[in-house]
This record gives sequence, C-alpha cells and structure tokens, in this order.
Amino acid sequence: MIPGNLTVARNDDDLTSPPTTSWLVEATRTVSYSVSVSRDVFALDNPSLATAGTVGAGETRRRFVVIDKVVHEIYGDQLDRYLRHHDMTTRLCILDATEQQKTLDSATEILHGLDEFGIDRRREPVIAIGGGVLLDLVGLASSLYRRHTPFVRVPTTLIGLVDAGVGVKTGVNFNGQKNRLGTYEAPTTALLDRNFLRSLDRRHLSNGLAEILKIALIKDPELFVRLEESGGVLLDEHMQGATPATELAAREVLRRAVHGMLEELQPNLWETRLERLVDYGHSFSPAIEMAGLPDLLHGEAVCIDMAMTTHIAHRRGLVSDTELGRVMNVMRLLELPVHHVSCTPELLVRALVDTTRHRDGLQRLPLPVGIGDATFVNDVSADELAIAAESVVRAARTVPTGAQ
Ligand SMILES: NC(=O)c1ccc[n+]([C@@H]2O[C@H](COP(=O)([O-])OP(=O)(O)OC[C@H]3O[C@@H](n4cnc5c(N)ncnc54)[C@H](O)[C@@H]3O)[C@@H](O)[C@H]2O)c1
Repeated sequence: MIPGNLTVARNDDDLTSPPTTSWLVEATRTVSYSVSVSRDVFALDNPSLATAGTVGAGETRRRFVVIDKVVHEIYGDQLDRYLRHHDMTTRLCILDATEQQKTLDSATEILHGLDEFGIDRRREPVIAIGGGVLLDLVGLASSLYRRHTPFVRVPTTLIGLVDAGVGVKTGVNFNGQKNRLGTYEAPTTALLDRNFLRSLDRRHLSNGLAEILKIALIKDPELFVRLEESGGVLLDEHMQGATPATELAAREVLRRAVHGMLEELQPNLWETRLERLVDYGHSFSPAIEMAGLPDLLHGEAVCIDMAMTTHIAHRRGLVSDTELGRVMNVMRLLELPVHHVSCTPELLVRALVDTTRHRDGLQRLPLPVGIGDATFVNDVSADELAIAAESVVRAARTVPTGAQ
C-alpha cells in the first residue's frame, strides 16, 4: 500500500494577479522484506529458494539467476540439481564478481541478460547468489531494470550473511571511488545459509568477522565476549559447529550480528538520519580500501578504521587501557589487520573531508565508548588522526597480552 496526499495551492481565479497553482505530492512507500536463516538452501526438500520472493500472483517457474563465478564452480551442480528438481527454467548469468569488477559495466551485463531473458518482473524474482560484490551488483541492476524488479539475495560470504545481504543498499565503484553509484532497493527476501562458509577461505571469514566485531563494539558487549571466547574456533571451523558448543556459538554470533544490524538499519533504512552507528569503521575505510586495492578486503579496511578510532577514543578517555587491550586482542584473534601502508596521515585527512561532505558537513564520527556502546563526535583533528595512526602501528608491534 502506498498512502499519500496531494495538496493544491491555487490563486488562478484572481484575474488581477498572475495565476499561481502548485501541487505538493506526498507519498509513503511501505517496505517490507524478510531475512531468514535457512540451512542448506540447495537441499532438494527445502522449498525456500524455489518459492522465495514470489508474490502469489500466478507464480511462474522461470528464474534469472546471477551467480558469482567462484560460487558457481563450487556449487553449480547442486544448484542445477535443485532447480531441475523444482522444475524451474532458468537462465544463469555467471559473473566474475571481484571488487575490481564492481563496475557499471558489470551491472550492464546483468541488465542485458535480464532484457534478453524477457523477465516477467511481477512473477519472476531475480535470484542473486554470491558475496557482497555480486549482491550489490544485482541489487543495482534490479533497481534499474524497469525502475524496479524484485530480487532475492542468497549471500555466500560472511560479509554477505551479516551485512551486504541484509540491508537495502546496492552499488558499484565509480571513478576510483567506493560505491559511488548506487540505490536503496530492498530485496524481497534474503536467505542466510551458513553452509556456504565451508568453502570460504579463512581470510574472507576474518573479513566478515570484522563486520560482526563492529556490531559488538558499538552495541553488543555480549557479542564481543562471544568473539573473545570463540573467535578462534569459529574461524577454524568455518562457523560450521563441529561440536554442540561451537554450533551454538556459531548460531548465536550470527543471530546477534544480524539482529544488531537490522535493529540499526530498520528505523533509518533510507539513511535520512546521518548519525548512524553502523557507519562505525566506515569513516576512513572507503578511502583505505580503495587505496589498498587489491591488497585489502572490505572488512580488513573496516578493521583498520576501527583500530584507529578505538585509539582516538582511548586517548579521549572513552575507552580504558584494559578495553583497548581487549579490542586489539580480538582483532588479532580474528586475524584482522590493524594497519596498512596506504593509511598515511594525508589519506586519513582526505578520507575525513570526503566523509564529512557525505555526512552533510559534519564529521558525525562514531567513536566507541567502552565496549558495546558508542557516541558521535564532530571535532577530530588532523593531529589526532596522525597520533592515532602512529599508536596503532606501535600497538600492532607489541606482543599480545591475552584477553582479560
Ligand atoms: N550493500 C551493503 O550494505 C554492503 C555491506 C557490506 C559490504 N558491501 C560490499 O560487499 C563487498 C564485499 O563483499 P565480500 O566480502 O562478500 O566479497 P566478495 O563478494 O568479493 O567475495 C569474496 C570472494 O569470495 C568468493 N566467494 C564467495 N562466496 C564463496 C564461497 N561460499 N566459497 C568460496 N568462495 C566464495 C568470491 O568469488 C570472491 O572471490 C564490498 O564491495 C562492499 O562494498 C555492501
């Protein structure tokens, strides 16, 4: 339902003055989408994927499926069996969805495919299977194709499961800048299947754990403790739960991370409020990530940003010595970097200027308060950035003291 209001202000029956009539159009669009944990989406007896995103308006069995090339190499046979079992006629678009390929050209490739397929967009949701890059690309293409074509997300990386797969942002890099073009477009459904993490390499698991750590640091002290206790084993087991205890840990960490993320996104889905806790770790990281390409992954750049801003918070007395030590130890435990050579004082200042412009003239920089809480500041100086970057480098050289 799209409620709305049309207000008219007119002055055109007074012939002594020039006629003026204006209309004010106000409409509100209700957005609703589901995010569900679904273990083994390719199990033949699991109908979730076959029925995902259908609106009950004479559903068809045709689907346009966009899948990451690497994911297709690993899971292509299973997907094929699943689709055949459910009598689905599909067209596969296999994309080399790397960060370097996160471009308008790749989105256009999807658009050409959609057009050739002749999608019936009221009955045939596009299915996107892959990591954050692929999900962002398909989201953008779906929002462009005939202005809106429903799509279903099946994230296959940890970043996808806890972040890129659950919100409404889409995008591509443009002109050397991260996610410079994009839209807000909710999926119809996101199906979260931890099974995919089995084949994800350790570095990409760490990468996703960085976004989970972000949620822990800004709002969930209990999640932080879970990471302290189980971060190592979650990595070792690819979050597959080899024992009942680690299965519970994996479930709980994933559930808390997704819940925390959605709790922050839902009341501010269109980002009209610029003070966003989920921007923690994302003030300097876009510039760091682009400068560090292809060395740095998204979550790694986020962790470098978080390490530096935790040091700023520490110097301001918002984070104690013990808390700083615990945070740095968890970053190490999760095998995340806290510094990169590209992270020079000049780059940090440039990043802050860009972020400030993006946030309508104020820094609105989230800083941690202790562990599990945060505040926003607007007065971080270039000197403070340089000192923090220097302290991170020094801290990174010290021997871990063990979480306390
Ligand atoms: N839209 C959002 O709200 C949002 C949020 C966070 C991140 N992002 C975006 O997400 C991107 C990062 O996502 P990512 O970390 O998932 O990276 P990615 O999509 O590049 O995937 C990482 C690598 O893992 C491979 N892969 C994917 N699934 C696999 C699996 N199950 N097994 C083995 N290999 C697999 C991919 O081929 C790729 O090489 C960035 O571009 C970032 O901007 C978007």
